[in-house]
Order: sequence, then structure tokens, then C-alpha cells
Amino acid sequence: MSSPIQAVRGMHDILPPSADDGKGFRSSHFQFVEDTVRHWLESYGYQEIRVPIVEDTALFKRSIGEVTDIVEKEMYTFADRNGDSLTLRPEGTAGVVRAAIEHSALRQSSHRWWYAGPMFRHERPQRGRYRQFTQIGVEAFGMPGPDIDAEVILLTARLWKALGLHHVALQINNLGSADARARFREALTEYLRAHEPQLDEDSRRRLGTNPLRILDSKNPQVQAVVERGPTLLEFLDAQSKIHFDGLQKLLDLAGIVYEINPRLVRGLDYYTGTVFEWVTTRLGAQGTVCAGGRYDGLVAQLGGPATPAIGFAMGVERLVELVKEEQRMPTDPVPHAYCVAVGDEPAAQAMTLTEQLRAAVAGLRVTLHCGGGSFKSQVKRADKSGAPLALVMGESEVERGEVGVKFLREERPQIAVARAEIAQWLADWLVQHG
Ligand code: HAM
Repeated sequence: MSSPIQAVRGMHDILPPSADDGKGFRSSHFQFVEDTVRHWLESYGYQEIRVPIVEDTALFKRSIGEVTDIVEKEMYTFADRNGDSLTLRPEGTAGVVRAAIEHSALRQSSHRWWYAGPMFRHERPQRGRYRQFTQIGVEAFGMPGPDIDAEVILLTARLWKALGLHHVALQINNLGSADARARFREALTEYLRAHEPQLDEDSRRRLGTNPLRILDSKNPQVQAVVERGPTLLEFLDAQSKIHFDGLQKLLDLAGIVYEINPRLVRGLDYYTGTVFEWVTTRLGAQGTVCAGGRYDGLVAQLGGPATPAIGFAMGVERLVELVKEEQRMPTDPVPHAYCVAVGDEPAAQAMTLTEQLRAAVAGLRVTLHCGGGSFKSQVKRADKSGAPLALVMGESEVERGEVGVKFLREERPQIAVARAEIAQWLADWLVQHG
């Protein structure tokens, strides 16, 4: 016998509640988060876009940036059978922008779009960090002012409320114009060169390629050096300052609490101006549950018409963990009734009955026992299903035109209900027990 094959490291199954062994994720938890988010996105006017999971490798290199962790070390890149270099998407923005340009959607109007699905990054797996993970993201095109920045942040704040989350904090920053960033980059490089012996190998390498990324190094010694260095905000151009002030005013007005983090630079090169992250301390090291910002230059950079844009993405696994951690996850739905039937004729009638009941009683969840077995073993299954009621069909019920109703969670004797009245009986029961 060969040994069973396991899932790829860092990639996980999302299991139905009945198979959840406590080691993985549960599909109903994902549904709760995804349904809640979808509901609120639609209420703000966002429309869904679905783009392929695989794109031309050049798309990610050109948008995320050649000298980023994602492009340098984390992409799942492979040669297609005809030799083209393809990559499993590590994030959603690049593909959405490609699609917007390809379908000429950016000529005049503005758009609010959302997407959900798996992303792939070859990172070192740990709690909250996976090689295949799920993002829900939004991208808003054609709106240059701080109003849309504020709206996407308000939208995320509303989502946390709807999901029952209290322990997430907002950090914001402004990366300034390309000019301001270039001036800052020069000052930062000069400062860091003077402190090069205190930097680690990774940061020293970045000094020549992408010094801004040193700002969010996790190494405490590097952090200490960075703390004393110049900050982006000191270099902000007038236009970006006005934009940033405008955003803060709108957030204040809405009562959103935030921290300005001048070292927040984000790990993808396409950002310009506003950037933000929602962070929690409840999930260990991987505490960023949602992150995004403006990318006013990306559409033109990828060959489309110059279009201001902003977006964010949230990590669904991290949100699911957080909702569980804060004990806000609703319990899984169980069937209201489980129908047991012994004998060929009762079993055939039970199938017709359950079909009729599902059509007649709105919202009723009824499971039909399939696979035969004794009355005792079927009732055991009914009990295990979590259903409060068992509907019993035996030879005598068929003869009398009745259905037996057994109360599985109450000390109450079984009753018989006329077949013609069982739908109404269940509808009344649902109103009372819901
Ligand atoms: P990101 O910061 O790379 O941004 O990812 C967004 C979120 O995805 C993170 O805050 C985190 O919750 C989740 N995430 C990222 N990597 C992993 C991983 N390995 N395992 C589990 N969760 C992860 C973006 O992807 C941008 N495209 C966001 C954006 C959209 N900016 C503008 N529009």
C-alpha cells in the first residue's frame, strides 16, 4: 500500500462542518465572512469582477515591481507548454487593472469593483500566512479626491462592525508624489549609508535597489536605525499634503480612529499617495487583516489611459481566525428535520414527502435518510445530524396517511400528524422555533 498523498505545504482544505477535525478551516466560517462582506460591498455600489488565476508573468513584474519580496522570491511561476512564462496570481490588483484596460472600461466613467478568490505566494508558512490564501478586494477607478479614500476606509470599518470585530486598528500614511518620494529616497539612502554597519544583510542589499522597503523591516536593530531617520511626511509635496489633510478631516468627521504611521510604505511598488492598513494584535505576527491604498500611476504604466485609482484587499483566513478568536462566529445551521423511513414503500413515499415539504415550507431544512438500515440506526443518524425533529415514515404511517414526529431534543412523546397537514404543522413549528 502506498502512503496517502497530502496537501501541498502552506495550502489548506476548507472543510464542511461534518469533516472539521479542528486542524483546518471550516467552509461555513468562510461563508459567513464572505456573505457579510459581499452584502456590504453591494450596498456601497460595488460590482463583482472575476479575472483568471493565471496571468502573464510580465504583468506582475511590471505592476508589483521587480525588486519586491513578492516578485523576487514568492511567485509561483512556470513555463506553459508552449514556453510562455505564466504566474499564479499573488494578488488581485494587477489582473483587475489588466482587465479594465483590455475591455476599455476606463475611457470615461468611474467604477467600483470587487473580487474574491485564491492568491498564491511562496512564503514561509505560519499561522495566518499561507501559500494559497483567499482575498476579498476592491478597486475603485476614476476618482482622484480624498472622498473615495475615506469611503473605502469607512466601508472597511463598517465591515468590522458587521463581523463583530473590535480589536482592529487603522494606520494611514501618504507616500506623496513620485517627485517627493524620489527626494525622500535620496535622503533616506544617504542616512542609511551612514548607518550601514548597523543594517542586516537584507537591508544592505535593498539599499542599492529599493531602500523604502527597509522602512518596514521586522528586524528590531534595523527598526531602531530607521526610527531616527528622515520620514516621508517631511518630504510631502503640497498637493499630497492637501489630499492627506482632506482624508483626515473626513475620517475625523466620521468618527474613525486612526494612527498616522510615517513608516507605512507597503510591499508593492504601485502605490502613490494614501496607503492604509488595518492591524490586530490578536493573531500573533501576521496581524494585518486588510491593506491597500492609491495607485494613481499604475493604469498608465500598464498601457491604459491615465486613471486615478484606489483599492484594498483583506485576507479572509485572517478574518476568519479573528472572528473565531473574538467568539463572533455564528453556529452552523443544522437540519430542522431528518426524515427516517423503514421499508420500500415508506422510503419511496418519504422521498416524495420531503420534496413536497421543501417546496411548501419556505426556509425549511430537511434531510432525507438515504442508504437504508434499521429504524434504530436511522434515528441514531437523525440524532447525530443535530436536527431537533425526526419525521418518521413506517408501514403503519403509510397505511394511516400520517407522518410521525419525534422530538429529538425534548422530553416529549412522539406525535402523529396527518399527511395533508404536516407542511402546515412544520411551518407553524418554524415560526415558533425558527
Ligand atoms: P497585500 O498587503 O499584499 O496587498 O495583501 C492584502 C492582505 O492579504 C493582507 O493584509 C493579508 O490580510 C492578506 N495576505 C497577504 N499575504 C498573505 C498570506 N501569505 N497568507 C494569508 N493572507 C495573506 C495586496 O495584495 C494588494 N493587492 C491590495 C490592494 C488592492 N491595494 C490596492 N488594491
